[in-house]
Amino acid sequence: MSEFEFEMIEPGVLKVKNGIKGPKETEHEGNKYFRFMDVFYTRTEDLDQLSPEEVSNLCRARARFPDLISQPNIEVRSLFKALAMEINPTRLLEIGAGRNPVFASTTSNNMHYVISDADHEVVKSHTSTETECYIFSETACVLPCQEGHFEMVIAVFVLHFPFYKAQLSELYRTLNNTGVIVANVYRRSTNARLQLASDIENSGFKILVVKDTKDLCLNHEYWILGKSEAQMKACATTLEKLIGLD
Ligand SMILES: C[S@@+](CC[C@H](N)C(=O)[O-])C[C@H]1O[C@@H](n2cnc3c(N)ncnc32)[C@H](O)[C@@H]1O
Repeated sequence: MSEFEFEMIEPGVLKVKNGIKGPKETEHEGNKYFRFMDVFYTRTEDLDQLSPEEVSNLCRARARFPDLISQPNIEVRSLFKALAMEINPTRLLEIGAGRNPVFASTTSNNMHYVISDADHEVVKSHTSTETECYIFSETACVLPCQEGHFEMVIAVFVLHFPFYKAQLSELYRTLNNTGVIVANVYRRSTNARLQLASDIENSGFKILVVKDTKDLCLNHEYWILGKSEAQMKACATTLEKLIGLD
């Protein structure tokens, strides 16, 4: 008998019962499941293959166990927070903010901070907070903002999931000419990274990839998207400086 016991905590999402790190993959009721973080399991190893519903189920499952949030997550959030404070944009958007956005409610320095997520349950959970929260998904991707509105966009642990062309087009419309989008990418296969990079470039953005010299997780990179190479390079320099500080 296996030393691990599993329970289905959301449709299609298994969790090791006692909360310890489970095997890389397992079988449950005749189906194969793959580990995501230490204790959650989903039907595919390639998270970019999940449907929007499967992504929401997995993220909801993870959000139900805040004590199991990993150290890399904490570190990337703190890095992006420090980066945003350094860049100090007038208008900052967080994508895939989940229930625990990078900035608690308001930011300092007069930054107008808004958040967004593909999951309507996440958006609903923010209705009672001070932070403006928009739905932002493949099918509901229109942000109530003018062209060039945002000076900075951040996404923490979002780009391992599918990211849609319609979302990229809307980000292109709403990002300022000197704005930057900063996201971390991990877990994607080489082909899935190439596909995402191609979708990003086809939507008009340039990409600058900064390797994570701290290797917070497997094949972990920071991607900076923008329209101005000079601004992207300046952002990369600040990011590298902050990574080196830790
Ligand atoms: C792993 S959670 C990370 C949440 C938060 N950023 C954090 O680091 O704690 C991923 C979040 O991104 C959202 N998400 C997934 N795919 C998305 C997409 N294509 N567009 C916007 N949000 C997405 C999920 O609903 C979920 O809230």
